[in-house]
Amino acid sequence: MSQYFENDSELKSKLQKNEVQVLGQNFIFFTDYGVFAKKGLDFGSRLLIENLEKEDIKAPFLDVGCGVGVLGILLNRLYGITGDLIDVNLRALHLAKKNAKENGCNGLEIFESNCYQNVQQKYALILTNPPIRAGKTVVYNILMNAKEHLEKNGTLYFVIRKEQGAKSILSDIEKVYHIHIIIKKKGFFIVKCKI
Ligand SMILES: C[S@@+](CC[C@H](N)C(=O)[O-])C[C@H]1O[C@@H](n2cnc3c(N)ncnc32)[C@H](O)[C@@H]1O
Repeated sequence: MSQYFENDSELKSKLQKNEVQVLGQNFIFFTDYGVFAKKGLDFGSRLLIENLEKEDIKAPFLDVGCGVGVLGILLNRLYGITGDLIDVNLRALHLAKKNAKENGCNGLEIFESNCYQNVQQKYALILTNPPIRAGKTVVYNILMNAKEHLEKNGTLYFVIRKEQGAKSILSDIEKVYHIHIIIKKKGFFIVKCKI
């Protein structure tokens, strides 16, 4: 079976509509086979969005590994800020565009990029629920190279699970950023990083 980050033209399709409430607002996220997350909003992604510190919620933002677009769409709709969403999974990108339209978003650019390959600007906020299953090289590329795409005072936020090697990732990340663990819940850590 192919992984959620692979492009598989043989993959069956069964569109699923998920209704989700976040911070008192209603959203619709369409999902399908071969994309993350099946039920629209993953626990870790919700925890991330619900725990961003107010001072860090600034445009432009970059949602790295956007999947069906949940993080970027939520930021845009909840806080009215604009930004870019990137992924390598073409089905996910198609759904992210559909979901952005469905949720009445404005000012979002959604495009294919393997990590930061097609990213040309700097951002005030970069956020990611990184693709652990894609392997350490990809995850470290996304986390460590975020600093090259952050504005001077920009912030990187990510979510990581204890059982996915949070401890060793955090000790490596600390060599590059000043980190602050915003919250730990049910084995998920929300991490804020500054250059
Ligand atoms: C854990 S999912 C998170 C999806 C979405 N942001 C969310 O919170 O539900 C990680 C995403 O990273 C994407 N991904 C995997 N490898 C990537 C790469 N090299 N560059 C960009 N995105 C990648 C996957 O396709 C997947 O959509």
